[in-house]
Amino acid sequence: MAPTVFITGASHGIGKATALMFARKGYDLVLTARQIDSLESAAEEIQSVTNATPLTVSCDVTEPSQVNAAVEKALEHYGNIDILVNNAGIYASGPVEQFSLRDWSQVIDINLWGYIHTINALLPHFLERRSGSIINLSSIGGKVATPYLVPYCTTKFAVTGLTEALQAELKPKGIHVCGIYPNLIKSDFLDRAIFRGQDEEDTKNRREQLNSVVKTPVVEKPEDVANAIWDAVKNQRSEVLVGSANFSQAVYRLFPGALQWVSRQALKNKDK
Ligand SMILES: NC(=O)c1ccc[n+]([C@@H]2O[C@H](COP(=O)([O-])OP(=O)(O)OC[C@H]3O[C@@H](n4cnc5c(N)ncnc54)[C@H](OP(=O)(O)O)[C@@H]3O)[C@@H](O)[C@H]2O)c1
Repeated sequence: MAPTVFITGASHGIGKATALMFARKGYDLVLTARQIDSLESAAEEIQSVTNATPLTVSCDVTEPSQVNAAVEKALEHYGNIDILVNNAGIYASGPVEQFSLRDWSQVIDINLWGYIHTINALLPHFLERRSGSIINLSSIGGKVATPYLVPYCTTKFAVTGLTEALQAELKPKGIHVCGIYPNLIKSDFLDRAIFRGQDEEDTKNRREQLNSVVKTPVVEKPEDVANAIWDAVKNQRSEVLVGSANFSQAVYRLFPGALQWVSRQALKNKDK
């Protein structure tokens, strides 16, 4: 019987590249996201280049009842789940005072509660079998405190804490937990990202600025993150920093103030 991986946010970007990578390694796939049409297109694309026949389940990770139902459906279909990849997430950028409480809730609900909901739903299964891997997509923003990314960094630092505390508790119970820390990745995240600015022009400029940075050839790709996830699973790593994120963390450790100054200059736009 093939091992099974359950991936949230599998229709685009990093989640889709990760699904394709696991399909190539012979895994059975449970792919989830909210929009079923794009999820099914991703599944068809994967099916056309591998032998996989993924199970697709529409599921909003902010809704515990939908997450529980997706996990039940996956267990009914495959019998077991071996790996959970918590990937569904949203980016948010702008001066902190421009985020409404609704923005904060949206970011926390997807980036943090979404991970807690899947872990809560799957942990009894992993504990019963005394095996399983939980892979949490954090970000370099979960290690490096970055200006103009306050709600995003808040959730990603929380994911770092969640990951490390789970490791401390679950390792003796046979469950592997790993945090993945990418830098900026050339994915489709701008389609869903929240931008806030001092006015409409500032908001627009922030989106355009990031859009042009994402297009530069040096920016890493979703496949680089998928490979890091495979490395984490295969070698039971507790954390993997993806490519250039190693450099960012090293600079932050040596010169935290200098890196924050550079980020402020790059990201402040109209903010004084
Ligand atoms: N791209 C980067 O630069 C970067 C860097 C570091 C870390 N990361 C992290 O990597 C992860 C993936 O990022 P990405 O760039 O691949 O994002 P992306 O291209 O925007 O894809 C996000 C995926 O999550 C799904 N999703 C969004 N909200 C959801 C919800 N409430 N419930 C279920 N699914 C939801 C989306 O599909 P639907 O809209 O159909 O639900 C989509 O499949 C995130 O956790 C992100 O923070 C990204």
